[in-house]
Amino acid sequence: MKKLRLDKYLSDMQAGTRSEVKQMIRKGRVCLNGETVRSPEQKVDPGEDTVTLDGNAVGYVALEYWMLNKPQGVVSATEDRRDRTVVSLLPDAARKDLFPVGRLDKDTEGLLLLTNDGALAHALLSPKRHVDKTYYAVISGKPGQREQELFADGLDIGDEKKTLPARLEILGSREEENGAGGKAWRSEVKITIREGRFHQIKRMFEAVDMEVLFLKRLTMGPLVLDEILEPGQARLLTEEELLALKQTEEQRTDGNGSAG
Ligand code: URA
Repeated sequence: MKKLRLDKYLSDMQAGTRSEVKQMIRKGRVCLNGETVRSPEQKVDPGEDTVTLDGNAVGYVALEYWMLNKPQGVVSATEDRRDRTVVSLLPDAARKDLFPVGRLDKDTEGLLLLTNDGALAHALLSPKRHVDKTYYAVISGKPGQREQELFADGLDIGDEKKTLPARLEILGSREEENGAGGKAWRSEVKITIREGRFHQIKRMFEAVDMEVLFLKRLTMGPLVLDEILEPGQARLLTEEELLALKQTEEQRTDGNGSAG
């Protein structure tokens, strides 16, 4: 198995943040094959070596990160009695302990991260951390400056608190036959939100008397949906993507992340 640094091994296994585990190592709390090691750079072979922290074995579970272009009709769950799940779309070689980071509605498409890294998932989903998510939507109606201001101010969608400021970008609007001899407006928009409330975007448009007809997530924090992925296809994150996500996690853990 590929060797990795002792501090990375321990932080991957959620013994602490990278700087916390460095301290643990320097204080002599960590042993490698029975010998105390004080150097965080020490290389470890997860398949061969035994690492202990305060005398307790810390086994290694390889972490995996998948980007899925979720298709419509599939639920964001690991198991479901009725519907196909997003986990079932991953290749057979993927680990069996993967779960989706957050949820997209059954009829929503687009970017979904699947991982077995609980700490990263927690950091990305924490309501306090406000990771930006951008969606493309087709909606009924013709939003304008008024709706942009309402979204930016925060909307009452029936919850205890108003929504946090969101950005509404109008890509275009056109009038179409409505099937009943009349005409109706239909628009394409991009919307960026910082939260992940239940049906949030659908409820925000409802609050301004419009309806979401199609919804697709394009980004989550620094992660951008890879356009080569057809709906239903997945690939492992690249090292750059993973690094960018981890930086988001670390910044926000340190309390330096900007809201939005
Ligand atoms: N907002 C929604 O209404 N649905 C989603 O799937 C995601 C955001």
